[in-house]
Amino acid sequence: MSDIWSERAEAYRQSAIHAEGDDLDLTVAWCEPGDGVTVLDVATGTGDVALEIAARTPDSVRIVGEDFTQGMLVRGREKIAQSPYRDRITLVNAPCEAMPHPAAAFDGVTIAFGIRNFVDIEAGLREFRRVLRPGGQFICLEFSRPVLPLLDVAYDAYSFNIIPAIGEIITGDRAAYQYLVESIRRFPDQGRFAKLIEWAGFGLVRYENMTGGVVALHRGYKL
Ligand SMILES: C[S@@+](CC[C@H](N)C(=O)[O-])C[C@H]1O[C@@H](n2cnc3c(N)ncnc32)[C@H](O)[C@@H]1O
Repeated sequence: MSDIWSERAEAYRQSAIHAEGDDLDLTVAWCEPGDGVTVLDVATGTGDVALEIAARTPDSVRIVGEDFTQGMLVRGREKIAQSPYRDRITLVNAPCEAMPHPAAAFDGVTIAFGIRNFVDIEAGLREFRRVLRPGGQFICLEFSRPVLPLLDVAYDAYSFNIIPAIGEIITGDRAAYQYLVESIRRFPDQGRFAKLIEWAGFGLVRYENMTGGVVALHRGYKL
């Protein structure tokens, strides 16, 4: 799986498949990292969410970004080194389902547009819970299911017919975009994903739809 991301790192970076704008605003706002906390951003890619958390939080907040694709982390390290947050962000090359961190090491765990690609989503969720301290929160931004009337029909037509074609024109990699739309379709909808988070042992689970449910932000606490 990591090979697919390595081969396609450039195509994904040129695409819109990463957290930005309102999605990123709400992700960081929900996370609300306070003084002195440590946040783990899993599937960090080139570290955009980690950088955004650093930009909006006190200097005492530390962020660890983790990803299994070395190519993404190399680009991320370059960006972080040129940023004012270089001393606050560390990037780690590891799979999210088996992380090299002790239990209860983090106050918050974030993931944006990553969990949909996990081979074993439930194992990933259990691992997130393991590395969170009691009371810590898990925040996940991911593609979901449109909930507005007709948006689902239009979104399906757009996803399966237009996205792969546009992706091919922009990046020359149609297969990457075909994989994207299929992975979105396979991923559980908002309600089912909330249940998976609960089954992994999180409490007070809730979600908010964004862009009519095209994207959803889920949150749960380690109680
Ligand atoms: C679409 S990118 C999102 C990057 C970043 N979160 C953002 O929003 O800008 C997905 C990332 O997830 C990583 N990824 C997917 N599955 C993973 C896994 N099981 N363990 C670690 N990283 C994973 C990929 O390497 C890739 O960098």
